[in-house]
Amino acid sequence: MVATPTPPEVALLPNGSPRRYVYVQTFGCQMNVNDTDRIFQVLEPFNYRPTDDPAQASLILLNTCSVRDKAEQKMLSQLGRLAPLKDYNDDLILGVAGCVAQQEGERLLKKVPHLDLVFGPDHIADLPGLVERARAKERVSETRFTKRKEFAFIEAAPREETRISEFVTIMKGCDKVCSFCIVPFTRGREVSKPADAVVREVERLVAAGAREVTLLGQNVNSYGKDLQGDRIPTFAQLLREVDAVAGLERLRFTTSHPMDCIDELVGCFGELRTLCEFFHLPVQSGNDRILREMRRFYTAAEYREKVAALRRQSPQIALSTDIIVGYPGETDAEFEDTLTLLADVRYDSIFAFKYSPRPGTRAAELPDSVPEAVKRERLARVLALQDAVTRTRMEAYVGQTVEVLVEGPSRMASKGQTTRWQLMGRTRTNVIVNFPVPLGEFWSDRWIGSLATVNVEQAKSNSLYGTLA
Ligand code: SAH
Ligand code: F3S
Repeated sequence: MVATPTPPEVALLPNGSPRRYVYVQTFGCQMNVNDTDRIFQVLEPFNYRPTDDPAQASLILLNTCSVRDKAEQKMLSQLGRLAPLKDYNDDLILGVAGCVAQQEGERLLKKVPHLDLVFGPDHIADLPGLVERARAKERVSETRFTKRKEFAFIEAAPREETRISEFVTIMKGCDKVCSFCIVPFTRGREVSKPADAVVREVERLVAAGAREVTLLGQNVNSYGKDLQGDRIPTFAQLLREVDAVAGLERLRFTTSHPMDCIDELVGCFGELRTLCEFFHLPVQSGNDRILREMRRFYTAAEYREKVAALRRQSPQIALSTDIIVGYPGETDAEFEDTLTLLADVRYDSIFAFKYSPRPGTRAAELPDSVPEAVKRERLARVLALQDAVTRTRMEAYVGQTVEVLVEGPSRMASKGQTTRWQLMGRTRTNVIVNFPVPLGEFWSDRWIGSLATVNVEQAKSNSLYGTLA
């Protein structure tokens, strides 16, 4: 919600330039969350400070997601809600970043008259200049893809408050051809960040206080395939290099395409000290015909074999996946194969989506033939099945002793407020654990980033409760 606007504070800094505030609302995946950090980073030298009050901002950006239609609609209605702020604040620039910006470009400027600026993910580094053009009353749209060879990553600078758990982008784009997916259109071709830069970034974050790092990419397993020169590590080799960074406690990555999940990568689990026992391996469907139509290039049996290999290597490994229900032409029987796969694999958690046709994708040329009501029913059945599996998986933790990386004070579930007597952190398998601070103590900063050994006493649907061992 947007509160009654108040005029923004425009204080002059010693160098004579105004201090301004930027408000960014982030939609969608971790990639966007990470891009938002880069947006703050490139604007900082131009005296923009982040704010969480849109009424205070002289630059408002929506960092958007277009992977499903719903995400796009949410962004459009938010733009409508923000529009009145422009009546109160002549200084205000309103912009759209991210995947919808890349996909729509100029069209978005035409559709939304109060919009000043549209720019794609490849243009974050250009943002200060784009904003200046918008301040000079130009309506700016910048969505050209940077050529693969010319693309330069913005190396993350640690923020004032480095989080215990940080993300490091190791590549952008996706060279896969999944028929339903808009990502290759909005994020372009794969470009890998040079390994030295990745390691440097991790070292810097760890020096600034991070204990856990998640390497990010649309398909991290194909890391390095585009790199040139004499030092081109595979993804598994990159994991080894990052694992060797002193002071790092935990290493994660996301996301992987099952086809590229090979023995070399499987072999890293249980072998690399920091590599956590957690793997997000999107399957999408349990039916071979649908998988072929989706152009995923594996069968359900091949996928199951990958899962078996991971579990042989690392028996405690927690698995999660993505599921799409109601792909064009998916029959009841084909859908049942997805349920069977879920029941057999017994994931720790899943993300499930109703198929949503995306403009320009191959699947969008097919009629969106599964009725909405059927999609809804299939989604409900997937979630009900998974709820039961997740519950038994969570209950299996009760009585176990787990290592918890403490992130901070617990949030009280209902109110979103933090407590002073209860800590929260995660297991290596990525489950949230809450436990009380020892008697007579309150929460303090010193807990953050420590590894606690916790006896699990109770399991709820999304988190565990226990006491310090
Ligand atoms: N490799 C990427 C996938 C991005 S999209 C990653 O980093 O996760 C994330 C998930 O959204 C996909 O795995 C898929 O399950 C879902 N998805 C993508 N396109 C979709 C569409 N058109 N309709 C419904 N779900 C979709
Ligand atoms: Fe999308 Fe498939 Fe790439 S789901 S991001 S095209 S691996």
